[in-house]
Amino acid sequence: MKKIFIKTFGCQMNAYDSARMRDAMFVHGYQETNNPEQADILLLNTCHIREKASEKLFSEIGRLNEFKEKRKQEGKETLIVVTGCVVQAEGDEILKRSHLVDIALGPQNYHRLPELVASYNRKKGRVLLADFPADSKFDYLPKTKATSATAFLAVQEGCDNFCTYCVVPYTRGCEYSRPASDIIQEAKDLVATGAKEIMLLGQNVNCWHGQGASDLGDLIRQLALIEGLDRIRYTTSYPSKITQNLIEAHKDLEKLMPYIHLPIQSGSDKILKAMNRQYTAKGYEEIVASFRKARPDIAVSSDFIVGFPGETDDDFQETMEVVKRVRYASSFSFKYSPRPGTPASIMKNQVAEDVKTKRLMILQKELMEQQQEFNSNTVGKILPVLLTEKGKKEGQLVGYTPYLQGTHVSLPDSFLNKIVMLKITKASATSLTGVEA
Ligand code: SAH
Ligand code: SF4
Ligand code: F3S
Repeated sequence: MKKIFIKTFGCQMNAYDSARMRDAMFVHGYQETNNPEQADILLLNTCHIREKASEKLFSEIGRLNEFKEKRKQEGKETLIVVTGCVVQAEGDEILKRSHLVDIALGPQNYHRLPELVASYNRKKGRVLLADFPADSKFDYLPKTKATSATAFLAVQEGCDNFCTYCVVPYTRGCEYSRPASDIIQEAKDLVATGAKEIMLLGQNVNCWHGQGASDLGDLIRQLALIEGLDRIRYTTSYPSKITQNLIEAHKDLEKLMPYIHLPIQSGSDKILKAMNRQYTAKGYEEIVASFRKARPDIAVSSDFIVGFPGETDDDFQETMEVVKRVRYASSFSFKYSPRPGTPASIMKNQVAEDVKTKRLMILQKELMEQQQEFNSNTVGKILPVLLTEKGKKEGQLVGYTPYLQGTHVSLPDSFLNKIVMLKITKASATSLTGVEA
């Protein structure tokens, strides 16, 4: 069997895409390998969200080329393929700057990988596909298989929100929702091959508006009927598009995990407006309160950007105040990174790098304390943990609580891919330790 090596950068959607490319290549006789020396295809699935994306890519290509050269000496051919959001943003540039890349595919064209690999001939020309085809790639992808007890499932892709800092609407294209029937079939395929938990993915997952269900909440209600599917999660949600039905689903469905990733980005209404986020800080807090009313124990997480153009100390202070009121279970926070082609990148009042660094440190310190507090509050509790990975040490497994806390436990491999009741004995800011209850 031929082999493909895939390295993935960026968000969970990219991880999902990599899995689907693996599925597509499998049908054509390729197996995935994590050893690049053995690979007939070396694939980099790239992310463009923050700076240095292309620099990172070119240094990765250089590294992979060493494997290609080594294989050449053994008389073996190797293709270098680049996919993902960097290709969509600057595919021409990639082919121009690096003669090492054979095939470059944007996120809406990756289903064509097998066909392009089969017909590839370097003499005839290297390949770049970065358009937005009228038909959906999902209609061309083969059946999927779960590779662990948790699986990703893309239900929605693309974005029409155009936040002024963000490249995603340009790299992923406009919003597209898959029909409920396709999603349910894919979920059944995943469960039949071992998935117990499914994470529904979308750039704005709660903007899902496909055929066959009235909203994401309704879609989740339908998915919850699948026997053998124990846990459902979804990410990433856009605050102002949350429906009451989705909130209620957290009260009604035991399978829907008590966790909501709801990025606020900033706590200042002035900055939110400049970002083109369509909510106020108060509106955001009200949505969080509605989730907590429906499901009091729900874990809330968020993304933050500090140092957006025009952010003053007072604006940043407003972010800190919202954080102190909301109290997060976990979070991701970034320094604002100007992206080529976005409106914010040419705004006049850019914030100095050292100011961004200082604000990020202050925010992360607070967020870490909150994360520690959330984790510490679970010590002594008995929680169901889905054990999905082997630990670093022999005889150790790692899994996730309903609140998505990584949890370590000493148990033999026979417990892998099972939901086990654990008594939580220890908590750090980033993980828990438990024993079988
Ligand atoms: N659709 C999601 C976010 C997708 S991008 C949403 O709207 O919430 C993931 C995160 O990357 C964003 O939430 C934001 O916090 C961060 N991000 C996006 N563009 C960025 C930029 N130019 N600089 C810094 N962080 C950025
Ligand atoms: Fe980017 Fe905004 Fe769309 Fe999220 S909602 S993907 S941050 S443009
Ligand atoms: Fe990156 Fe594209 Fe995801 S830019 S964050 S891989 S949508």
